[in-house]
Amino acid sequence: MSNEQGSITLEGADLDFDDVVMGPTGRPLTEFPEPPVLSSHGPARVIAMVNQKGGVGKTTSTINLGAALAEAGRKVLLVDFDPQGALSAGLGTNPHELDLTVYNVLMDRKVDIRDVIRHTEIENIDLLPANIDLSAAEVQLVNEVAREQVLDRALKKVEDDYDVVLIDCQPSLGLLTVNALTAAHGVIIPLICEFFALRAVALLVETIEKVQDRLNPRLQVDGVLATMYDARTLHSREVISRLVEAFGDKVFETVIKRAIKFADATVAAEPITTFAGNHQGADAYRRLAKELVARGGAP
Ligand SMILES: Nc1ncnc2c1ncn2[C@@H]1O[C@H](COP(=O)(O)OP(=O)(O)OP(=O)(O)O)[C@@H](O)[C@H]1O
Ligand SMILES: [Mg+2]
Repeated sequence: MSNEQGSITLEGADLDFDDVVMGPTGRPLTEFPEPPVLSSHGPARVIAMVNQKGGVGKTTSTINLGAALAEAGRKVLLVDFDPQGALSAGLGTNPHELDLTVYNVLMDRKVDIRDVIRHTEIENIDLLPANIDLSAAEVQLVNEVAREQVLDRALKKVEDDYDVVLIDCQPSLGLLTVNALTAAHGVIIPLICEFFALRAVALLVETIEKVQDRLNPRLQVDGVLATMYDARTLHSREVISRLVEAFGDKVFETVIKRAIKFADATVAAEPITTFAGNHQGADAYRRLAKELVARGGAP
């Protein structure tokens, strides 16, 4: 094999670099391997899905990345950490009918997290649900001792039961999100492909660095996930190149395209991987799961 002047010769075949398929991030598309079969489970790697901007795809990415990892045999706990309860609703739970939620786990030491976690219809996915009760926690936690570590302490009890824990944060950088960052090994930043969305990132990165410094030195940025990408618009492509300028390889090669099926899956209260398993959106999240595993972001 030779590699001179822009061409590779592989067993007699000439491949020009121009023939390499380029992805939306300007890198050649990698064929990520299937995640290896796990022979045992746990301890979990905890990943917080964070962006203080609303409507960027945090909840959609939590459900669908979780479902793709579950399909690959990972035991997954999804934590709804947003009082809107969108993740709980998106997995078929009616948030208003819940007696016990993550709020009780945070506020009442006598409540066992195992009594609050529910199995879902999806194999390998459990849910720690939330509802509007959680909105009180932000204020009530202020007076707690070690108020930033409350979620971390609670999750420790079940870390051996799961391979991956994904925390769906609310659109804010308040105390709940700081709890998620303190409990996490990694952060995934879903980011909608629109220019105004880029502005929010500087403050988010600052918050992540503060948590790394003061509360959780192991915390890493696992990746920035471009969502609602539309290849037909120059705008979308420009946002991605700005993201790559700012974050380099931290930007996941996998990009999630805009597709109406995601909203349909939400209405059906299912991940897209089961609702429309052959849809390109389902494949995109499967690819993200493989990329995350390949990067060491999940077992
Ligand atoms: N790739 C996509 N293509 C089209 N629509 C999408 C896509 N991803 C998410 N959506 C839709 O965009 C809306 C916002 O997505 P989502 O709820 O996941 O964002 P979020 O960041 O969790 O919002 P919030 O900050 O309010 O919690 C939803 O209606 C969802 O169905
Ligand atoms: Mg959400």
